[in-house]
Amino acid sequence: MQNVCEMRQVVKRYKEVTALDHFNFEIHEGEIVGLLGPNGSGKSTAINCLLGLLAFDEGGVEVFGRPVSPDDMDMKQRIGFVPQELSFFAELSVADNIRYFAGLYESDNARRDVMVSEAVEFVGLEKYVKFTAKKLSGGLKRRLNIACGIAHHPEFVMFDEPTVAVDAQSRNFILEGIKEMNRRGSTVLYTTHYLEEAQELCDRIVIMDEGKNMASGTLEELIDLVDPTEAVHIAFSEPGDRVFNMIREIPGVVDIQEENNHTVILLTPPGHRLSALLEELKNHHISYTSLHSELPTLNDVFLKLTGKALRD
Ligand SMILES: Nc1ncnc2c1ncn2[C@@H]1O[C@H](COP(=O)(O)OP(=O)(O)O)[C@@H](O)[C@H]1O
Ligand SMILES: [Mg+2]
Repeated sequence: MQNVCEMRQVVKRYKEVTALDHFNFEIHEGEIVGLLGPNGSGKSTAINCLLGLLAFDEGGVEVFGRPVSPDDMDMKQRIGFVPQELSFFAELSVADNIRYFAGLYESDNARRDVMVSEAVEFVGLEKYVKFTAKKLSGGLKRRLNIACGIAHHPEFVMFDEPTVAVDAQSRNFILEGIKEMNRRGSTVLYTTHYLEEAQELCDRIVIMDEGKNMASGTLEELIDLVDPTEAVHIAFSEPGDRVFNMIREIPGVVDIQEENNHTVILLTPPGHRLSALLEELKNHHISYTSLHSELPTLNDVFLKLTGKALRD
């Protein structure tokens, strides 16, 4: 599959801060790739290098198979960028803002007007086209920011934390919109520090910390990196050695831990052993008052790779 963009061993320093530390990264055509990392891990710096907005110290960056250059108009036309900071004109209307950004790439008035209405519809701002941008709520401003970045139908779109501080409704609108753009053929780079978003949206996730690519893969591949177990929390009616000794014999049980008022049974591989466990409990007439099971998450992976939790 063709790489839409590629970063090889990129080093970017801001004086004494190393924001990218031999960073490797690529996106294949048609993917939604999530760049997941805490604040300050280098996500925006990586995007700015891909856009040719920022000079880097070492390594190589290519987009559409060639080095990036700020005045490569053909390349710019094919790229969309939704920056982390709101980037539109506060005093202009919604429609005029989108028209301005679409006009950077499309000089034909009729075609540009079609782009504007499509972008408005895409982000669900139909009721607000005449509103002055500064009068919109936070979530609607975010949506306008997106419309400005994608109106020109780019093949490759980069979203830099587009859902920070937005309400749930706008957030869903944004994520669904990105999925739809991808279905229509756009390749997507999405940066976030929200685990759930990366999990929900992305075909492939790159875990970033301190300017480095710590791991990349599908959610399943990443979870496989960490000796994954499923934690089954059970409050037995009569806990005791008879119960524990029996459970130890069940295939897939790797550990039993006693917590305050319940027992945690660790199973592997996750997602495949719970029904056998329940069957055995039934066969042995072992009763319980509550039970729930927790599958491994991206947070477990993040913790293992970086030594810290990435909390939302
Ligand atoms: N213009 C700048 N000048 C100095 N340091 C910067 C600048 N931009 C970013 N940094 C530093 O580089 C690191 C990575 O920042 P950034 O790429 O913004 O991370 P993220 O987008 O993941 O939050 C941070 O330590 C940040 O403080
Ligand atoms: Mg950032």
